[in-house]
Amino acid sequence: MNNDDKTLRPRPVRESISEMVEIVLPNDANPLNALLGGRLMHWIDLAGAMAAHRHSRAYVVTASIDHMDFLVPVRVGDFVVLRSSVNRVYHTSMEVGVKVWVENYRSQQNRHVSSAYLTFVAVDAVGNRVPVPQVIPETEDEKRRYEGAARRREIRRAESARKKRVPSETMLTDR
Ligand SMILES: CC(C)(COP(=O)(O)OP(=O)(O)OC[C@H]1O[C@@H](n2cnc3c(N)ncnc32)[C@H](O)[C@@H]1OP(=O)(O)O)[C@@H](O)C(=O)NCCC(=O)NCCS
Repeated sequence: MNNDDKTLRPRPVRESISEMVEIVLPNDANPLNALLGGRLMHWIDLAGAMAAHRHSRAYVVTASIDHMDFLVPVRVGDFVVLRSSVNRVYHTSMEVGVKVWVENYRSQQNRHVSSAYLTFVAVDAVGNRVPVPQVIPETEDEKRRYEGAARRREIRRAESARKKRVPSETMLTDR
């Protein structure tokens, strides 16, 4: 751990807020002209990493992505708008929320496509974990997400402990 105290000064959520917009092209879609789920997951990972980089001012790796639903199909030609921000920081890890909308510029319609919570871990240039400054939630939404993040961390930890208890012969990788 080699971050000095000055860089660990807490920072407001707003300094991490990021937005990314993609136009869906044929190469992003399945034969029905609908956006591939895997492509959207890639964009969510990138949008989440932007917020994590901005907050931590460090390299980051993705440690986990929570359960995701795809609520409406996205078509070739639509705009995909991804907004991200840091919800809560622990020691070397931080939870980032990414919310995704599809924007149809002809009908002027915006629809919610997906929301995801990702955990990023800050690392230095050789991959050692480094501490991350605490985050300061200021708005009502930011405070709600900050509280929610603590509950989600407990769920992740319980799930991780449960997986460790699963006998190895039932794991797919051991077949
Ligand atoms: C993520 C990673 C750095 C964790 O390293 P580790 O030595 O297992 O770390 P620990 O178990 O001591 O946990 C370190 C931190 O990561 C968090 N963490 C570890 N695994 C996690 C998971 N699956 N989900 C959420 N947080 C996780 C811990 O809560 C801890 O956070 P804290 O320091 O804020 O308390 C390591 O597993 C790794 O490098 N994974 C590969 C990352 C990568 O390549 N991602 C790209 C996708 S392939």
